[in-house]
Amino acid sequence: MLVQEIIRTKREGKALDEAQIQHFVHGLVDGSWSEGQVAALGMAVFLRGMDRAEAVALTRAMMHSGRVLSWPDMPGPVLDKHSSGGVGDKISLMLAPMVAACGGYVPMIAGRGLGHTGGTVDKLEAIPGYSTAPAPADFDRIVRTLGCAIIGQTGDLAPADKRFYATRDVTATVESVPLITASILSKKLAAGLQGLAMDIKCGNGAFAATPEFGQELARSIVEVAGGAGLRTRALITDMNQVLGREVGNALEVQGVIDYLKGDKPREARTHELTLALCAEMLVLGGLAPDVGAARVKLQAALDSGAAAERFARMVAALGGPVDLLERPQAYLPSAPVVKPVPAPRAGRITGMQTRDIGLVIVELGGGRRLPSDTLDMRVGLDRMAQLGEVLSAGQPMAFVHAADEAAADRAIAQVTAAVTIADAGAPWKAPSLVMA
Ligand code: URA
Repeated sequence: MLVQEIIRTKREGKALDEAQIQHFVHGLVDGSWSEGQVAALGMAVFLRGMDRAEAVALTRAMMHSGRVLSWPDMPGPVLDKHSSGGVGDKISLMLAPMVAACGGYVPMIAGRGLGHTGGTVDKLEAIPGYSTAPAPADFDRIVRTLGCAIIGQTGDLAPADKRFYATRDVTATVESVPLITASILSKKLAAGLQGLAMDIKCGNGAFAATPEFGQELARSIVEVAGGAGLRTRALITDMNQVLGREVGNALEVQGVIDYLKGDKPREARTHELTLALCAEMLVLGGLAPDVGAARVKLQAALDSGAAAERFARMVAALGGPVDLLERPQAYLPSAPVVKPVPAPRAGRITGMQTRDIGLVIVELGGGRRLPSDTLDMRVGLDRMAQLGEVLSAGQPMAFVHAADEAAADRAIAQVTAAVTIADAGAPWKAPSLVMA
């Protein structure tokens, strides 16, 4: 089978058969498809699309491109959540211990930041000593004993996605429904899950910019996962503003600790979305009869400290400090320069260019320009104002944490430009967080 003929078939808008798709996936793993050929097929699929049968074949082939985990003798349901990528989205770090505290088992294989979006693995690496690449036997043992472990993608699970994703990232072919579907589900199916909650982010900080794209992606993921025997629920959620009040690796970990401990009031949108996604997981796993009962159970796991304790034990089991929750400031790195971003005028915050805010973090050094970049875990934004808040002129809309004054001043200008402030009395309606 000639590679160029497979590319030509898709370029002409025809469907690929299973053998052609398998040829491509083998070529990704054994290197027999060149970078140019992988990129060309990626662009052909981006422009011409794939039907459901092709998306299923691609998902299956990528899932079987490496090791497939199974958890045959687990005492409870094996569950996970995946987000399609956002800004300030730290929910995985709270969700895994909360679901574990309610009887679920969460072997979460998370990703790194991508483009303007943050990554769970990068956030965890802000914790000194935390290993995101433990030996497989340790991962297995920690999930079994504590109910959750969050680690990074290993080379042996869905390796085809690892290569294809890296190429898509630098060839402007990320935002394709069949490619995102196959990318996400190949990894989740290889992790041996029994239930998956999908958080499809939609808006100006997401890969799915429009509700139509979000809905199409949700349908595709639920159908392809269901066809492969993985029960999946998808929520379409708003990403037209930063989620929560912190963005940046160490700052988000601090936000997670505050959330789990509950010493300060929990930020409303973060709390709502965390409960909504966790509740879907408990219902999928048969741990609660409905989302209402699930939310009661989850709130109890927070109030009793059980979820915070799971998180603390997971961190320690993966090599982090045993007293991170008691003394986070002793461990989490902090930036030398912290400066407010003053509101340029009085009024209500009515808009946020969320992608631009994600890019501010990249420019501060908290995200990557190149795959090989080392991150500055200290930098980011905190005490970020939310849409709908009314500010007086000069009141801080956020605080920039930066490596030096010049970087802080650049970030202040960029955040100011990314936020829209209108007259406080003008009509304004809060967007719903869970859109569908
Ligand atoms: N997240 C993934 O894992 N893959 C994609 O293609 C997009 C978001």
